[in-house]
Amino acid sequence: MTETARRADTAHRADANRRSLTALPKAHLHVHLEAAMREATLRQWCAEDGLEVPPLVDYPDFTRFLDAYGLLIDLLHTPERVEQLLDEVIADAAAQGVVALEFASIPEKAVAFGSAEEALEFQLPVMAEASRRHGVWAGAIVSIDRGAGPEHALEAARLAARFADRGVVAVGLVADERDSPVAAAAEAFAIARDAGLGVVPHAGELGGPEEVRSAVELGADRIQHGVRAVEDPGVLELLAERGTCLDVCPTSNVVLGVSPSLESHPLPALLAAGVRCSIGADDPLLFGADVVDEYVSAHERMGVPEAQLVEVARTSIESSFAPADVKRDALARLGAWEDRAAWQDGGA
Ligand code: ADE
Ligand code: ZN
Repeated sequence: MTETARRADTAHRADANRRSLTALPKAHLHVHLEAAMREATLRQWCAEDGLEVPPLVDYPDFTRFLDAYGLLIDLLHTPERVEQLLDEVIADAAAQGVVALEFASIPEKAVAFGSAEEALEFQLPVMAEASRRHGVWAGAIVSIDRGAGPEHALEAARLAARFADRGVVAVGLVADERDSPVAAAAEAFAIARDAGLGVVPHAGELGGPEEVRSAVELGADRIQHGVRAVEDPGVLELLAERGTCLDVCPTSNVVLGVSPSLESHPLPALLAAGVRCSIGADDPLLFGADVVDEYVSAHERMGVPEAQLVEVARTSIESSFAPADVKRDALARLGAWEDRAAWQDGGA
């Protein structure tokens, strides 16, 4: 094969992989609403507000990353923008083969509304309508902001509890882990659990494996990131034994310096240790990679075989808070995808 033919063949295979991983039915369980904004929308709203578009993908430290995130929050100063964002995020999820979407936000920071309560009153019916329109089940995660103190944590959990039957499915815990350990939110998690909500803290991202252990011991249903579990075999064993799913976001980890490169990312090691993992994009606009890009990178740059990615997609669906009928349907679609893939392989 000539060099030109070889390159064309590689490009053709890459295209085929992307198409196939786009069509793979999956649940996207780790994504922050504001940072799933389209870049075109960001540019349009910055222009309308006379603001400079913030630098994307390059953050000297975690604080500068949170500043960029804060700017996205500030752009959402009208209900119309919140509605547009929700519609675009859910439409994009549908185009990425996402059948169930759980997005996180901090309702207290929703500047278009007079209160966190009002923010959810508006957001949840809009989410439900967009979900129907685009054929993607959607649930909201109310994030507790680690930087905002213990009173905020309790209030956020009580707020989430009041909306438990209206589209909120879980509480999360976000921002800089080094500011406050996961155990500081124990009481807030108990409130959420009593209301029938899930608990999905960020842990083991900027904090070490002891934070992952702590999250498991606090009864976390899933852990967002959790990748630093790889530093402690005992924590890996605990995760594997309990079947706790880690919602892993490789590009985020590289951009924020948690992992030196995609090639050295711990996802393959976590899977090899029997840890259940879903793949997410965390903040796609800010990190320059959507959920399909993450699946493609896992395959092409981390060497995760396609069969293992199918298991990741299955785990994502099983680990979501979607109702049983949605999961059943999603798993049936995954089975149909596998049958099609087997047929295509057989026919090649
Ligand atoms: N909020 C948005 N993205 C985050 C991340 N990667 N870690 C902690 N909090 C976040
Ligand atoms: Zn996150």
